[in-house]
Order: sequence, then C-alpha cells, then structure tokens
Amino acid sequence: MTGEYLFGDTDLAAQRLDVLAEVFALSSRAFLTEAAKSQPRLAVDLGCGPGYTTHLLGDLLGCRQAIGLDNSEHFIRLAQKTATANVSFQLHDVTRVPFPTGPCDLIYSRFLLTHQGAPEALLAAWASQLSRGGRLLVEEVQVIRTKMPLFLEYLRLVEGILADGGHDLYVGARLDAIPAPPGLVGCSSRLARVPVTNDLAAKMFSMNMHAWTNNPFVRKHHSPVSIRELEKHLTDLARGPTNQTGIEWELRQVVWSREN
Ligand SMILES: C[S@@+](CC[C@H](N)C(=O)[O-])C[C@H]1O[C@@H](n2cnc3c(N)ncnc32)[C@H](O)[C@@H]1O
Repeated sequence: MTGEYLFGDTDLAAQRLDVLAEVFALSSRAFLTEAAKSQPRLAVDLGCGPGYTTHLLGDLLGCRQAIGLDNSEHFIRLAQKTATANVSFQLHDVTRVPFPTGPCDLIYSRFLLTHQGAPEALLAAWASQLSRGGRLLVEEVQVIRTKMPLFLEYLRLVEGILADGGHDLYVGARLDAIPAPPGLVGCSSRLARVPVTNDLAAKMFSMNMHAWTNNPFVRKHHSPVSIRELEKHLTDLARGPTNQTGIEWELRQVVWSREN
C-alpha cells in the first residue's frame, strides 16, 4: 500500500485541494519567496494535484517554466486546462527518476511525503534530479494543534488511516532530524504556524470523508454510523461561523541545495 494516495482524486478531492490552496497560500508564498533565492529557469512541483501549487511557483518566482508532475490522470487533466505559456503539467509517478522534465533548478513538494512510505529514499531520488546550484524545497505537517473534540476525533481517524498504509500524517516532524539527501547541503529548516478558522478546517476535513467509505482500516475500526456522524458534524461546522479559530497547523519548511 505504500505510496497509494488515500485521499482520492475525484472532483470533490480536487475541490478540497482548492480550499487547501487558499488556507496555505500565505505560508507557502512566504516560504517560496524566501527559499527560492534566485529566479529558477525550471521549477518542478511534485504531486501537483490540479495545479494550484504549480501556478504559485510560476506566478511567484517568475521562472521560465514551472512544470507540475502528478500520477493522477484526473488531476493532470484538470491541471492541463489551466496551463499557460510558462506553467504546464505532465503525468508522472514521482517515486520514479529520472523525471521527464530534465535537470531542475528548483524542486518543490508540499503535502506529498505524508503519503509516501520512506521519505529518506524519496528525497535522495529527488536530489538526483537537481542541477548544480539547484534547490529542493519541502513543506510537510509537523503537528496540528487543537483542543476541539470533533477535530481531535477526525485527526485520530486520519492518523490511523495513514499509519495503516505505512504513511505518517506528521512526517514534517522527521524532516528536521534526517541527514541532507546525498549531494545536498541543508540551507534552512523552519516552522510556520498557520491558525485556521473552524469552518475552513471542517470543510477540508469533511471533504475527505467520502474517500474513506470503503477504506479497509475504517471498516475494521469504525462503525458506518460513527463515520456518518463525524462527517455530519464536520459539515455542520463548515457552515460557520467564519470567525472562530480553534485549530492551528505547524508546517515544517525545509530547504536543501546542490552545491556542485
Ligand atoms: C495532498 S495532495 C497535495 C497537492 C499539492 N501539492 C498541494 O499542496 O496542494 C498530494 C498529491 O500528490 C499526488 N501523488 C501521490 N503520490 C504520488 C506519486 N507517487 N507520484 C506523483 N504524484 C503523487 C496525489 O495525486 C495528490 O495530487
């Protein structure tokens, strides 16, 4: 199961990534602006989904080409509808190298390692695709802090589903400690705090629940009634109010570079 994307690639999953793009736009913008250093010629976005992060790279960094790679045919079809002169997309399983793009000046990955089994091996493979002076930028969840019972229940569920597939919801917490991928040196590792309003967090969470109706872990450990209840309460909370914040993400943002 390692490497399977357990959040699905339906239209609803694409809409969820739209909400997620809005929630994490500011923190990713700040990270990319600071970490990119110079204007990259070719920037590659790994696990690009419907393309929001790839457009962020293209718009923000002024690179000649930003290319998004994803192994979901549906997400790539959606992304290709948004392609521009300097932003394009290709179907590719990013656990496999070489990438179809050629050597990259910048490689960016957000919320992908959390769906993979062995981050060290994958980072080493990605590092091999960087050109001289190129940078590898990774953003993953370090921790999600909340005291709200509804959110805690959802987070226990998603942590269990991911762990059952050999994945780690909080893989960001490991990134600070692992050695730099072969041939790269560490440039920076920092935490970004992102408080999120309850309605938006509940919206992102409830939009995931459909993907798990037939998940073997969920069927084994949770009754269909408890799952429907959780989804209903999240959907209710997603309606508002829009000004209360009872949950905060901490994102680990790491930069490595290839010196030669
Ligand atoms: C949580 S989404 C993140 C999307 C985007 N990076 C963002 O932050 O909005 C993870 C994405 O990784 C893709 N993915 C998962 N495993 C992959 C693989 N082995 N190769 C390429 N894409 C993969 C999924 O299809 C999905 O689009």
